[in-house]
Amino acid sequence: MPPRLKTVPDKWIVEQTLADLGDTTPERVEARFAEVRQRFDEQSAIHSADPETWRTFVVAWTGRKSGVLSLITDHWLKPASPELKRAVGQELNKLKAHIEAVLEQKRIEIEAAAERAAQARERIDLSLPGIERATGTRHLIRQTFEELERIFLAIGFSVVQGPEIESPYYNFEALNIPEHHPARDNMDTFYIEGTRGGRLLRTHTSPMQIRTMEKQPPPVRIIVPGKVYRRDNPDATHGYMFHQIEGLAVDTDITFCDFKGTVEYFVREFLGPKAKTRLRPSYFPFTEPSAEVDATCHVCGGSGCRVCKFSGWIELFGAGMVDPAVYGFVKYDAKKLSGFAFGMGVDRLAMMKYGVSELPLLYQNDVRFLRQFP
Ligand code: PHE
Repeated sequence: MPPRLKTVPDKWIVEQTLADLGDTTPERVEARFAEVRQRFDEQSAIHSADPETWRTFVVAWTGRKSGVLSLITDHWLKPASPELKRAVGQELNKLKAHIEAVLEQKRIEIEAAAERAAQARERIDLSLPGIERATGTRHLIRQTFEELERIFLAIGFSVVQGPEIESPYYNFEALNIPEHHPARDNMDTFYIEGTRGGRLLRTHTSPMQIRTMEKQPPPVRIIVPGKVYRRDNPDATHGYMFHQIEGLAVDTDITFCDFKGTVEYFVREFLGPKAKTRLRPSYFPFTEPSAEVDATCHVCGGSGCRVCKFSGWIELFGAGMVDPAVYGFVKYDAKKLSGFAFGMGVDRLAMMKYGVSELPLLYQNDVRFLRQFP
């Protein structure tokens, strides 16, 4: 239902003839038309505000059947006396022209306003805050792996990876750890039943020493990043799984000096140029001599603090010269070859370097923790 217009021109006027209205002279006709025109002007000003009302208004004035202009034609022009016809015709034409001009003007204004409104709706508001997408970071363990790899790749090592499910042969025997050797005790692990010959989750990355030497002739210079498993009771520094990087270098002329130089280079790269290195005698069945590599405490610089338990030194990893017995398992000539190996706990190194106090923090994946290592 179009809105009703209370101020539509008084229809009864345009439904009379001019003779009935008593307009018998050109002057009276002119005055009558002026009145209609004034009414039109008043009303167009009132009704143009709302588009819906405006459409009804336009029809009321220009509608074919009962618009004001049609009624004037029918009731004023057609029955006009011959003396007045000219005057009525002229006035009607002037009125029509005026109405058309006003309507056209209004149409342009209304369209422009609609266009402006549409533009306002569709405008891209650059002042709105954008959508912030959370960008992840690499996990601290992954970052540490990459740091360690960078250090060794720079001096000619290459990266190899091996299976996490191993046979006892590669995990123990070929590394010179026979079945009842006590060294197996502190490397108790998870055994997988039902597989022929028995399988286990590797307790260290050292099996890849054997697999690599079996596959390729010397020289060998590899590092082995990966996960290893032990049946440890979980606490602040132990879990059932941790990460290692194994290293192995074998050639015809590798000496203990090469071993020590490589270790010192690594410590300086990893902890900074001021860090000093110390080798402590140790034991591994597959290295002889064996050593624990310590570095001066990165927190106090060696003077003693809580982190190094006031010793000035931090234990980094185990290492040593490859035990000649190992070469026997891979058909390397123990008389001509020599080399060194090391095995680093990546979690330990990361915790130490970045001041992480609890191992579980590395695996709980709490973003508040992870965000601290962008
Ligand atoms: N595989 C030993 C461990 O996990 C570390 C090690 C590797 C020691 C290589 C010496 C040489 O404890």
